Amino acid sequence: MLTCRICEGPLREICDFGRHPLSGGFLRPDEIEREFFFRLAIGICGECSMVQLIEEVPRQLMFRNDYPYLSSGSTVMRKHFQQTAEYFLRTELTGPDPFIVELGCNDGVMLRTVAEAGVRHLGVEPSRGVADIARSNGVRVSTDFFQESSAKSFYAENGPADVVYAANTVCHIPYMESIFRGLDALLAPGGVFIFEDPYLGDIVQRTSFDQIYDEHFYFFSATSVRAMARHFGFELVDVERLPVHGGEVRYTVARAGRRPISAAVTTLLAEEEAAGISDTATLTGFVERVHKISTDLVDLLEKLRAEGRTVVGYGATQKSATVTNFCGIGPDLVSFICDATPSKQGRLAPGSHIPVCPPERFADPYPDYALLFAWNHAEEIIAKEQKFREAGGRWIRYVPDVHII
Ligand code: SAH
Ligand code: TMP
Ligand code: ZN
Repeated sequence: MLTCRICEGPLREICDFGRHPLSGGFLRPDEIEREFFFRLAIGICGECSMVQLIEEVPRQLMFRNDYPYLSSGSTVMRKHFQQTAEYFLRTELTGPDPFIVELGCNDGVMLRTVAEAGVRHLGVEPSRGVADIARSNGVRVSTDFFQESSAKSFYAENGPADVVYAANTVCHIPYMESIFRGLDALLAPGGVFIFEDPYLGDIVQRTSFDQIYDEHFYFFSATSVRAMARHFGFELVDVERLPVHGGEVRYTVARAGRRPISAAVTTLLAEEEAAGISDTATLTGFVERVHKISTDLVDLLEKLRAEGRTVVGYGATQKSATVTNFCGIGPDLVSFICDATPSKQGRLAPGSHIPVCPPERFADPYPDYALLFAWNHAEEIIAKEQKFREAGGRWIRYVPDVHII
């Protein structure tokens, strides 16, 4: 029997997406032969409702020295994290000598504002390349995985943390028992653990199935996070919906009984109950829509190819690995993908082996159609690439369904 990675309850498979590569595994041509694959499938726990991957990919394969994702690549996200830092400085970090720890600080997009304010901080970032960039931005970083053992040494060295924060990182960590033990060691008695991740409610509602890939181990809801916090002796005390990355929730967790539970928690739990977020029928409907998107997208791309139209991808996102590999989209349907991240350029996208090129290639000459893999940055990218529209180019989107804009 499959069991839940949080509570060991029975895990029921929801969807099997088949064989998938590492979503961050951008390859040199000589690496194709050795490409790593695993079974991408999700299930839901009958006890705590946590939606999770069924197969776990070893963390050292994903979070490597050359981890390709750079958080500062989007203007919208830079602003989001600057505002987040300012919010912490105004609210939780007002004591005599406050201390904040961030898990998965990446290139320091959030902590650089904290560092500039002269507030004590520590970024925990196992991927050395991005950790070094954070250091060059004036951020103090430990190149470590956050877990019970490292958390205990952070406490020994720095004392208690007022805030432990993580964006798009907690859902990447299967070993949650070790995380909560680490929090128990590191957090001040009245401290808070604040984390934001893609929201199951938005994934299901928008059929954004490309949020499902190796790095995203958990798909959180208020219902499952409340159960998880309780399971480890903590309590979910606040939630806030965020518009970034296609819909996220910021969860605030505290030691049980230390903070009042906000009305927003009760409201979101009631909404999830009313929407039947953990019901078989809801999840079956989601899976049916995923299959329809896949069929519609491949039909459209094949039709455009038959008509002699050119199609390129925009944004070699980790999400695009799920779309290309699940739908079976290769360089015959999408000739290349433009991406501003230097370490992805000149490489082949994982599994699909579609070449990744710098954004300058986009206008040289403009294609007839651009498949917007980075749909979560749509506003920013469409504004930046306005000349493409003016030249008669059209964008293809596949969330919440396949459509041309
Ligand atoms: N917070 C950034 C980065 C998210 S990407 C943002 O929101 O844009 C996820 C990051 O988590 C990666 O940089 C990865 O190296 C890091 N990570 C993975 N496992 C971790 C762990 N156990 N502890 C701390 N960071 C971890
Ligand atoms: P994300 O959806 O996981 O944040 O990844 C976005 C990807 O898209 C990342 O590889 C960077 C790329 N990108 C561009 O190439 N140009 C842009 O303007 C933006 C916002 C992102
Ligand atoms: Zn469970």
